[in-house]
Amino acid sequence: MIDIHTHILPALDDGAGSLEESLAMGRLAAADGIRMMVATPHVITGLYPHSRETILAAVAQLRQAFADNGIPLTILPGAEYRLEPDLPQRLSRGELLTINDGGRYLLVELPADFVPAPTGQVFYELQLQGVTPIIAHPERNTAMARKPALLHELAGRGALVQITGGSLTGRLGPAAAATARTLLQQGCAHFIASDAHSSTKRAPVLSDAVKEAARLTGLDEAQTLTTENPHHAVEGLPIKTRQIRPTRPARRGLLHFLKQLFIK
Ligand SMILES: [Fe+2]
Repeated sequence: MIDIHTHILPALDDGAGSLEESLAMGRLAAADGIRMMVATPHVITGLYPHSRETILAAVAQLRQAFADNGIPLTILPGAEYRLEPDLPQRLSRGELLTINDGGRYLLVELPADFVPAPTGQVFYELQLQGVTPIIAHPERNTAMARKPALLHELAGRGALVQITGGSLTGRLGPAAAATARTLLQQGCAHFIASDAHSSTKRAPVLSDAVKEAARLTGLDEAQTLTTENPHHAVEGLPIKTRQIRPTRPARRGLLHFLKQLFIK
């Protein structure tokens, strides 16, 4: 498996706080069957203003540390950019770090509770430069969870969708689980990634999410989302997509809530 969304670089954001923690995460991921991982630290203006150079240097250091410690996991460069209106300008100035620095796919995170008005325009201007945005964990955006058409519209115009393994398995709560499972079944998911932040609470594991995805859509699709499409993303190749089939929103009554607590 290849994990395209992780916060494994030490002391750059709210992920791994030390090299020891990065090594623990690497050992856990390797034991889970992950052989390659894209390091995607947060980049947010005013909070985590990391440059390409800072991230590339941190990746090189961690790769060396993994080699020194015999951890069989390849770390590739990347970043998770907060949706900001000047992303297209920063891209054209060569300031952004795409997945594996391949110039093809950019991981973009929306705010937690709304979809900013310029999102469609920003994505369009990235795409004009040959870069396809990958929307990080839309199942955790409350506006998209309430109104999946917001996401379907962006995906219909070519944006890709990464859902988080912990959402699928229910570890991140019943609301994220319900939305992630719905998106998967609608064909509106192209990657499953861990969004790992540590070796304990939000850990770099994907095998349990593969089982859950296989239960919902079959093993072939589960493997496409955790192995084939991530491989294509790091190689800069086209991503396998399915026709999006919108379904009626799930009922949000008490019974629905109780069901989500117990159904895995
Ligand atoms: Fe993240």
